[in-house]
Amino acid sequence: MEVFASAIAHPNVALVKYWGKTDWDRNIPAVGSISVTLANLTTHSTVQFQHGLAQDRLFINQAPAGRHQTLRVSRFLDEIRRRAGIDKFCDVHSVNNFPTGAGLASSASGFAALSLAASQAAGLNLDSTELSALARLGSGSAARSVFGGFVELTAGDKEGGEPAAFQLHDEHFWPLAVLVAVTTDAPKPFGSREAMAVTEARSPYYHSWVQTAAQDIEKMRSAIQRRDLQSLGETAEHSALKLHGLLMASRPGILYWNGGTFAAIEAVVRMRSEGLAAYFTIDAGPQVKVICRPQDAPAVSDRLQVLPGIIRVLPCRPGPAARLLEN
Ligand code: PMV
Repeated sequence: MEVFASAIAHPNVALVKYWGKTDWDRNIPAVGSISVTLANLTTHSTVQFQHGLAQDRLFINQAPAGRHQTLRVSRFLDEIRRRAGIDKFCDVHSVNNFPTGAGLASSASGFAALSLAASQAAGLNLDSTELSALARLGSGSAARSVFGGFVELTAGDKEGGEPAAFQLHDEHFWPLAVLVAVTTDAPKPFGSREAMAVTEARSPYYHSWVQTAAQDIEKMRSAIQRRDLQSLGETAEHSALKLHGLLMASRPGILYWNGGTFAAIEAVVRMRSEGLAAYFTIDAGPQVKVICRPQDAPAVSDRLQVLPGIIRVLPCRPGPAARLLEN
């Protein structure tokens, strides 16, 4: 057994959103989703199983993590211990080069990097599909960050197998620019698991959300296949607005947006009316991700940067799969 391993993974931005579960224990998505993995943003995770530890210890960006986060990671590691037949606890160090827990998919890159590092350290030799299904247990979107480029995760039901993501096209297929307009560095007020539970139980739109997901997936697959930016952008905006409509209509209403989020949406719509092809999407947080052609990225970035409420703009492009690092 290797006991020590290190891995790197990138967050992803969902172009068609995952939201809702058919199985809460196994984290089985109620709808399919499609994402693009983002180069530039990274989570670096190191896992070391050790003798003599009374419990797992989690450090995020060098600081000890809170009880809730440590417990979540520890439960996830239990599954790896069970499969590998080991009983040692471990130290996990996770370092993000972007704001943690603020709607930038740190749980996606975090659990993808953790799955790879921990399974390797535990001596489990998993292929990408097995790794993706494992990462899904930590966070649904993490299943997608195991792969690079354009990635799909299918929906599942209680009786079915273990859904895993798969790659539609690699990161070189379509050199898009994704600009992340950061509107706050603060952690978001509601985690996605908690917010999903509220919408499932108490949003009048939840049923239609599930019913209409497959058609968005079809449109997105085809838009990517044809490298059709307008169709990708319109479908991504529709999926994002539909998700946030679902959230806002629940009781209590959940609004992840802030003033910067609105300003960025407005600016993107204005740019489009002036002939600049840019499209927005927003995950479970206030950050706005703007998709455009690489040659338009400097102009789009300049326009976003000067808006009130935008702290900074991070330029990204389609990025590679999660991978192990040499020890
Ligand atoms: O992976 P989770 O459980 O944090 O949920 C992610 C939900 C969204 O980011 C809003 C959508 C998605 O598909 O990534």
